[in-house]
Amino acid sequence: MERSGQVRGKVALVTGGASGIGAAIVELLAQEGATVVATDIDELRGADLAARLRNAGREVIFLQQDVTSEERWIEVAAEVGKRFGRLDTLVSNAGICIAVPSIVDMTLQDWRRQIAINLDGVFLSVKHSLPLMRRHGGGSVIMMSSVAGLRGATSLAGYSLSGYSATKGAVRLFAKSIAMECAQVGDGIRVNSVHPGIIDTPIWGKNSTWASGAGQNAPNVAGERAKSSTPLGRAGHAFDVAQGVLYLAADASRYVTGTELAIDGGMNTGGVVRRAQSQ
Ligand code: NAI
Repeated sequence: MERSGQVRGKVALVTGGASGIGAAIVELLAQEGATVVATDIDELRGADLAARLRNAGREVIFLQQDVTSEERWIEVAAEVGKRFGRLDTLVSNAGICIAVPSIVDMTLQDWRRQIAINLDGVFLSVKHSLPLMRRHGGGSVIMMSSVAGLRGATSLAGYSLSGYSATKGAVRLFAKSIAMECAQVGDGIRVNSVHPGIIDTPIWGKNSTWASGAGQNAPNVAGERAKSSTPLGRAGHAFDVAQGVLYLAADASRYVTGTELAIDGGMNTGGVVRRAQSQ
């Protein structure tokens, strides 16, 4: 696809940029003219993606990063500052989803692990990116929440997502509060949250790799679940979410801050029983 340059000249940092929604964001922002720093804990996939996009003429670098490590955030921010001298767009996207049969089955270890990645990671991203953005008069912060951050999460194929929902709800209000904090000091930084519904990405099929082994990633039922619980009747694509992020990164959204953008096939609005298609 040809560039139309919606984010030309901007420098963007995307966490969790090696897979799924993050990888689509990296690709789309780069295609639209941004210089993109993709970070992820998964070095192999991240480096592969960056190499593939560079071969296609895009400006993408990959830095290995665990978003829960403040030491690494300090290094990553310094590296971005040194290489590019600015940061225009932060996409705090890295996240995991630990599902358990019931909340009473969730270990404290898994609860904390999920909060460390989904919430501490977002806090650290903001803490260490705002100074870079402020240096040159502003930017756009985009935090990846979820439909599960807009309303209570119903169980998924018999699994509880209550802990995940707690992290995503916190991200939603953190975004609004930082939006107000930035507006108050007039630093030119806009802050918004994005709320995907059921998006067909690897997150659904991942096996439990967390320390305790008790929790599991959400069961791999994205397509099936979306048919019955999404008004549009299907799962979304990672690029559907990336398009919303592109809008929030671009100057087209210059009057938008503190808002929540649901990209969910209508899921958060209500249930729809579709009529049978006529032949
Ligand atoms: P994914 O599993 O394909 O990608 C997540 C990426 O985050 C992976 O590359 C993973 O290596 C990385 N990551 C995990 N822990 C990390 C850490 N400690 N430090 C740095 N990177 C780490 O998942 P997907 O679906 O692309 O998810 C992206 C975001 O979208 C997540 O925040 C997720 O909660 C959110 N989301 C996804 C939905 C879906 O249906 N796929 C729905 C709603 C929200």
